[in-house]
Amino acid sequence: MTNKLKYFVGNWKMFGDFTSFKIIYKISQFNTNFSKFQRKYKIILCVPSTLIYFFESKMQSRLISLGAQNCHHHPSSGPFTGSISSSMLKKVGAEYVILGHSENRSEGETSLLIKKKIKSALSRNLGVIFCIGETQQEKKRGKTFSVLRNQIKKSIEKKSRLNKIIIAYEPVWAIGTGKVPKIDDLKKIFSFIKKEFKKIYKTKSLPTVLYGGSVNEVNVSMFSQISQIDGFLIGGASQSSKKFIDIIKNYYK
Ligand code: PGA
Repeated sequence: MTNKLKYFVGNWKMFGDFTSFKIIYKISQFNTNFSKFQRKYKIILCVPSTLIYFFESKMQSRLISLGAQNCHHHPSSGPFTGSISSSMLKKVGAEYVILGHSENRSEGETSLLIKKKIKSALSRNLGVIFCIGETQQEKKRGKTFSVLRNQIKKSIEKKSRLNKIIIAYEPVWAIGTGKVPKIDDLKKIFSFIKKEFKKIYKTKSLPTVLYGGSVNEVNVSMFSQISQIDGFLIGGASQSSKKFIDIIKNYYK
């Protein structure tokens, strides 16, 4: 485990209502005590857009940041029925937005569209949690590395504010399935993503890269042994305060 800042990001997906604030409250209470041990980590909860303002106004601690799970590519307002822009998210209190999630890619989001969304989010000073990952079929065909390279290259412009982008490696076959990659594969993939990003964008420092896909309070101990992993994007398990808290506790055990 390195001393670098670690991220525990919750992706609530289509879950939650006003009463779900109790989840945030419990995580917040845990966090106030646990962070005294000087562990360097950050919690971001990406909740449905309908709840951001309510949660933001009830939250007392700044130790937890709120994020959204997608946005429209147009940054302000316009004739886009049912859509929410990055500036709208910013105004209700979001600090981050997840973009390129495979559940949205599977509904037709292309790399070109994701590129426009990333540009829009960055223009409104939102941090971007950019998801990449190969499908089961691509993995079988040995295409993992080329898929990841393409997803990065096609969605992030060279002149972007790269320090506002966090990459989340989420193999599509691991999301919500209980399956996770092998340690050796993860080490290779994380090194590849970091080196490739540095090469493409000619940056001095390595990017922050999270792992996502069936992370739970048990398997997190295995992931904690891989120093290249800078944190986690947690779906199902982030809908329970206990599971989410146990993930953080067990990571540092
Ligand atoms: P999961 O979801 O943890 O439920 O697999 C992860 C994600 O979709 O971000």
